[in-house]
Amino acid sequence: MRIIKTNDVTEMSRKAANIISAQIILNPKSVLGLATGGSPIGTYKELIQRYKTGDLDFSTITSVNLDEYKGLSGDNNQSYRYFMNHNLFHHVNIHLENTFVPNGTIEDATKACSDFERKIEVVGGIDLQLLGLGHNGHIGFNEPSDSFSKETHCVELTQSTIDANTRFFEKSEDVPKQAYTMGIGTIMKARKILVIVSGEAKADILAQVIQGPITPHVPASILQLHHDVTIIADAAALSKVTL
Ligand code: GLP
Repeated sequence: MRIIKTNDVTEMSRKAANIISAQIILNPKSVLGLATGGSPIGTYKELIQRYKTGDLDFSTITSVNLDEYKGLSGDNNQSYRYFMNHNLFHHVNIHLENTFVPNGTIEDATKACSDFERKIEVVGGIDLQLLGLGHNGHIGFNEPSDSFSKETHCVELTQSTIDANTRFFEKSEDVPKQAYTMGIGTIMKARKILVIVSGEAKADILAQVIQGPITPHVPASILQLHHDVTIIADAAALSKVTL
């Protein structure tokens, strides 16, 4: 694991954008794996800025997103499709038909998940996967459990994740209880992985991810086994890691 320590979240976002920019410039046909949540917002803003200055071209980029709430359609402003459209896609020249987010409106979970897994294969696999880190160590929506999940699947969200995501909804009852997410196996197949983490609230879990045992009870700990992982984290998030 390559660990890059930054002073704050602004620097974290800029450095993450540097790596994604390099990926896009070196391979304009890249398949980017993208994430939602609070962590990537600053990185997406940086990418939009670089597109506006003419430094980035997304016209031949494909994207696949980690996860989506089951039951929410893309025009629901809490869906991850909506998040991606409004925080990135609508502000750059990516072709929307080349952007893929699991379809939360497909009721048949097996079909929704196998369609999505196949889509990732058809586009050639993920060149660079961006990840945030959940407070319980989840990546995508792969919650702590007794085993690592393999492919895209439907999950029951834990109460801690529902609580953490309530801030985006009017009330906690509005947070969907299930989601479709890439599996740990899907994520591990990405050629490169970039994790962004900020804030003291994630210091304990980040230390477990980097220095603790590899266990499905801390899903992101599996990243220790990936051959090309970069973690960009601010000093607060890295405060419990001995570098
Ligand atoms: C959500 C998403 C994850 C994300 C996590 C952390 O549950 N499904 O992909 O990484 O939250 O979010 P945040 O960056 O807001 O802390």
